[in-house]
Amino acid sequence: MKGPVAIILAAGHGKRMKSDLAKVLHQVCGRPMIRYVVDAARAAGAQSIIVVVGYASDQVRAALADEPDVVFAEQTRQLGTGDAVRACRPLLEGYSGPVLVLVGDEPLIRPEPLASLLTKHKEKEHACLLGTSIVSDPTGFGRILRDSTGRFLRIVEQRDCSPEEAAIREVNPSCYVFELPGLWDALDRLDTGNAQGEYYLTDAPQLLQSMGRRVVALPVLEPDDILGVNSRVQLAEANAIMQRRIQEYWMMEGVTIVDPRNTYIDGRVDIGRDTIILPYTVISGTVTIGKHCRVGPFSHLRDGSVLADGVEVGAFVEVNRTHLEKGACARHLAYLGDAHIGAKANIGAGAITANFDGRVKSSTVIGAGAMIGSGAILIAPVEIGANGYVGAGAVVTRHHDVEPGATVVGVPARPLSRSGDGKHQPS
Ligand code: UD1
Ligand code: MG
Repeated sequence: MKGPVAIILAAGHGKRMKSDLAKVLHQVCGRPMIRYVVDAARAAGAQSIIVVVGYASDQVRAALADEPDVVFAEQTRQLGTGDAVRACRPLLEGYSGPVLVLVGDEPLIRPEPLASLLTKHKEKEHACLLGTSIVSDPTGFGRILRDSTGRFLRIVEQRDCSPEEAAIREVNPSCYVFELPGLWDALDRLDTGNAQGEYYLTDAPQLLQSMGRRVVALPVLEPDDILGVNSRVQLAEANAIMQRRIQEYWMMEGVTIVDPRNTYIDGRVDIGRDTIILPYTVISGTVTIGKHCRVGPFSHLRDGSVLADGVEVGAFVEVNRTHLEKGACARHLAYLGDAHIGAKANIGAGAITANFDGRVKSSTVIGAGAMIGSGAILIAPVEIGANGYVGAGAVVTRHHDVEPGATVVGVPARPLSRSGDGKHQPS
């Protein structure tokens, strides 16, 4: 296996989530949290990634099936984090070098501190380099014990802490770089003499040190990086921090977000500069937004949608798997699903594409410059030609395509011809 190797522990049930879904698959800003950890490990320089699976392992394997550099180790019984790392041993037979061990329930971990741990490990041979963090509220974390000279002594789990130890604010975020094969010697010696009766990985650094090997703990992680998701409350906290990071990124890229706290942008969205996002907008899934667009207030852009440059999507408009070409506009109260909307087409207030007949979803094509009147219903599959005109309240039924430049009105919609008195009438 090519190093450095990363091991991500994800076999636990996550009982405190009270869920049928494996904990690491709960979503943060639209993506399963383990994906963020995989990304961070890769960005930090890991060449191979082993994910330890156990509880609902099929779900976790399926969720990561498209990650080319991820392999799985099965931990059949969840006997603790130390046992979980042991489950990787067959995959790592013959490997010597650094292994970065992370947990799958810390989605906010950033690659930079992990990369710095790997670099420091390379500079000097360490049996274990432990990333730590100093937090204001250490509840739930293992605490880092040091001697009077500041030298690392050991990690004590919250449940095994004395009151004095519980007051320590330097914590274990479960970010370790171990040297292989030396780590196996320590894991062979783990026992279950602790409050949970588990094989704790947290005992490994101390064991290595007692064997005379070099162990160093460095406070390289920010409190935000290490927020562990063990409950739905922490899931919401992780979402909030990730959401702030996503929005700050886009603002730094030149996007105006008028009211960040009342805007939701998925981690898979791409936005061009000088686009303005107005309050109460939700952008979920893989969505691409061009430059100089105006989105919101109260817009919902959904997976698979593309807004080219200069598109306007306004209040109570839902856009789903729909492509709007340059300068197209849907300012108020519309549903656009499975549609392709040409440049500068205008979708009137209350117009909708009826894309689902109860069995299948079908597409609507609206040509460049077309005008769709207020309250019109376009029943898919149907095509409105370029510069076509659909009258207010018209119902264009399926397969009754509108010719380019033609006008249709009424229910069901029919082409309009001019009568002698100059008034428009359906032909
Ligand atoms: C663990 C650490 C603790 C640290 C905290 C946050 C141990 C003993 N404790 O506690 O010091 O402060 O993380 O980083 O390591 N897992 C398995 N197999 C198992 C048990 C757990 O794969 O048998 C996985 C879980 O899926 C999870 C991760 O390991 O992703 C951590 O397990 P969790 O139960 O959340 O440990 P914490 O109590 O948070
Ligand atoms: Mg945890």
